[in-house]
Order: sequence, then C-alpha cells, then structure tokens
Amino acid sequence: MKIHLETDRLLMRDLVDEDVHGMFAMDSDAEVHKFLGNKPIATIAEAQKYIDSIKQQYIEKGIGRWAVVEKETGSFMGWSGFKFNTDILNGRSNYYDLGYRFIKKYWGKGYATETAIASLHHGFTNLDYKEIVGIAEEANTASNIILTNIGLIKRNEFFHEGILLNFYSLSKEEWKKSEK
Ligand SMILES: CC(C)(COP(=O)(O)OP(=O)(O)OC[C@H]1O[C@@H](n2cnc3c(N)ncnc32)[C@H](O)[C@@H]1OP(=O)(O)O)[C@@H](O)C(=O)NCCC(=O)NCCS
Repeated sequence: MKIHLETDRLLMRDLVDEDVHGMFAMDSDAEVHKFLGNKPIATIAEAQKYIDSIKQQYIEKGIGRWAVVEKETGSFMGWSGFKFNTDILNGRSNYYDLGYRFIKKYWGKGYATETAIASLHHGFTNLDYKEIVGIAEEANTASNIILTNIGLIKRNEFFHEGILLNFYSLSKEEWKKSEK
C-alpha cells in the first residue's frame, strides 16, 4: 500500500480492501450523498465494488481517489484526490478531477481543505498535471467554498441530469502565478 501524501494531521494512501467498512459507513449515509445524486449504497458488496473500481483506475489510469487516514488514530476518514475523468461533462473529458468525500463525523474540521491543498500542490509539482478541474453542485456550499479557497477558478455553470453544477479549473501556469 503506497502512501502518497502526508499533511499535518492526515495521510493519503492507496485505497485497500480493508477500507470496505469505512467506505460502507460513509456511502450508506444519505446526508453524504445529498449532493451526489442522492443514491446512498445499501450493502457492503457495493462498497467493495467501489473500492475495486478505484483499484482498477490505479492500474489503468495511474491515478484514482486516495484513502484519507487520521494520523493520530490510523482511522479511515474518507477519500480525496484525483480521478482521471473520461466521461463527457460540460463538454469536457480526459481531465484530472479533484474531489473529496468524508464520513460525517469528520466534517467541519478543515480536513477536506487540508487534503485539497496538498493534492493541488502534488498534482502540479510531482504529477506534473497541466490542468486540475473541480466540479460541485451549486447547492453544495462547502464544496464550492473549498474549490474557491484553494484557488480554482469558476469557469461556468452547467446542468447535468437536471442539476445545476459549477465547473472550476486551474492551469499549471495560473497556479504558478498565484503561488508567487
Ligand atoms: C464537502 C465535504 C468534503 C467538506 O468536508 P469538510 O472537511 O467538512 O470541509 P472543511 O472543513 O475543509 O470546510 C470547507 C469550508 O466549507 C465551510 N462549510 C463546511 N460545511 C458547510 C456548510 N454546510 N455550509 C456552509 N459552509 C460550510 C467551512 O466553514 C469551510 O470554509 P472556510 O475554510 O472558509 O472556513 C464534506 O461535507 C463531505 O464529505 N460531503 C459529502 C460529499 C461531498 O459532497 N463531496 C463533494 C462533492 S463535489
């Protein structure tokens, strides 16, 4: 299992099968899925299927969301990081999407922001991405705040399956200028 990033309070590592119960706790919670299409999962098998799909992305695309672990306790808290998105959304495809999802008890402590800042830096430096994208439902206040706070630029709004979404992005050049 590879550790990719370390922040003050957190580790970001590859997702593993042992995360299945944490994934189930997170993804069976209707509140977690409020701005994710309202489709919480109902079985452990579905959580395992999700982990399997991300493990497959590591192999096929060289990247996928990473588990976030609390350093102090070793507990699985959720996931964060990049997905290489090949679906067409907002007229775009083949881009690195930055995302995050946490078990509810970890919300409101700055963890998502902490992982997003670390991911952005890692994406533009070590991974040498040319552009990083973020997409959030207009109604998902926390997610829009995070994407704005870390410096992504809102480019436009679009509808997907009847839901209003905001499309954010940042190029490596724009990031470099903002870092100065
Ligand atoms: C979105 C999510 C990852 C945020 O995680 P978090 O660790 O609580 O986020 P942070 O603590 O870093 O807070 C981010 C900012 O949003 C604000 N915020 C958090 N929840 C909020 C809410 N319900 N309403 C308004 N602002 C909120 C915080 O004050 C903070 O702003 P600040 O840094 O300017 O003070 C978490 O709520 C979650 O897992 N939601 C379900 C999955 C999801 O929606 N993912 C995003 C899909 S685009």
